[in-house]
Amino acid sequence: MTDPKSANIRSHAPEGFEPGGPGKRTEFTLANVTGLSKTSRVQATTVATINFKGGVGKTTVTWCLANVSAATMNYPTLLFDLDAQMSLTQAVALKPDTGGLTPLGEWYEKAVQNKRTLFHALEIYTSPQKGAYFDFPIKHDFIFHVDGKNLDFIPSSEEFYWFELEVFERDRVKHFIRDLLGKIANAPRMPKYKYVFFDCPPNFSVLSYSTLATCKLILVPVNPDFYAARGLNLILHHLKLRIEPFPLPTVGVFMNKAGWRPNTGLFRETRLYIERCKAVCEEWQTRGARVFWLNTFIPDRVDVKRAIHYGGWAQRYTGDFEKLFKEIETIV
Ligand SMILES: Nc1ncnc2c1ncn2[C@@H]1O[C@H](COP(=O)(O)OP(=O)(O)OP(=O)(O)O)[C@@H](O)[C@H]1O
Ligand SMILES: [Mg+2]
Repeated sequence: MTDPKSANIRSHAPEGFEPGGPGKRTEFTLANVTGLSKTSRVQATTVATINFKGGVGKTTVTWCLANVSAATMNYPTLLFDLDAQMSLTQAVALKPDTGGLTPLGEWYEKAVQNKRTLFHALEIYTSPQKGAYFDFPIKHDFIFHVDGKNLDFIPSSEEFYWFELEVFERDRVKHFIRDLLGKIANAPRMPKYKYVFFDCPPNFSVLSYSTLATCKLILVPVNPDFYAARGLNLILHHLKLRIEPFPLPTVGVFMNKAGWRPNTGLFRETRLYIERCKAVCEEWQTRGARVFWLNTFIPDRVDVKRAIHYGGWAQRYTGDFEKLFKEIETIV
């Protein structure tokens, strides 16, 4: 493997692709990547879950929503783990009881050996040796198909820690995710994904930057605590600054780990924090930003906590995630 420290960052737009340019958001469509006619256009809705605060439930919620998209909605769905912590990858790759490898775990070991991970894709994308062509064939040795589901998965890689340290010219990687999605859309024998989800790290990484420059919706889970509203304002402010000159995509904010009981409903404290966060969203709307408060909340429940490890997702709270998914569909 090339030393990530020596990675030289280059920009590689696919042939015939007109980048949006400053201030323009480029939709990811098969048509705009290949110049195909409108009839063959396939468009995926790209959703990135972000919050610079750790532990708010980004990974859990992204996983559950991707499962709703695949299983309930029956949409071909692709899920990216962009976090060098690899929480999602590990949760799906390791058996909770024995710590042994699941089928994904075994598949991932081969992907690492054969240099077919997201990190290797980025390494090739930024290689000083390569020309304008992004030579990384898209096959199922790079995208894992979750057995029996309409769901495919691209795991993360711990090497991204190194990458973050060494890459200073973040603008040179900003189109990586867009170009990778273009390749995936054009790859033979790959599903035409309807939804693509990105589980982002709690810090602002080059990968999250590249994702935010392309994605249609930013999903921000917040928790009912003292910093919720103030933190939300800060996140929106920093996202706006970091993405510029791109405009802020549509943002959906919702309460995760809500204090709630079936018989008494939402706790008073949670209601208070919801009102405060809602006010922040409305304030951003008055300034022209598409920032929406989503009314669906996810309760703080142990079934949700165990969602990824045990049986795929929180069966008892599937209805809440379905509701959240449907509300998301109304704003994208
Ligand atoms: N609705 C919920 N109810 C109970 N526990 C939850 C809920 N959502 C998430 N959790 C738990 O909270 C912890 C943090 O969740 P998760 O890892 O999804 O957060 P994160 O924002 O992705 O964290 P990080 O910033 O480290 O990436 C985990 O133990 C998870 O199981
Ligand atoms: Mg996470």
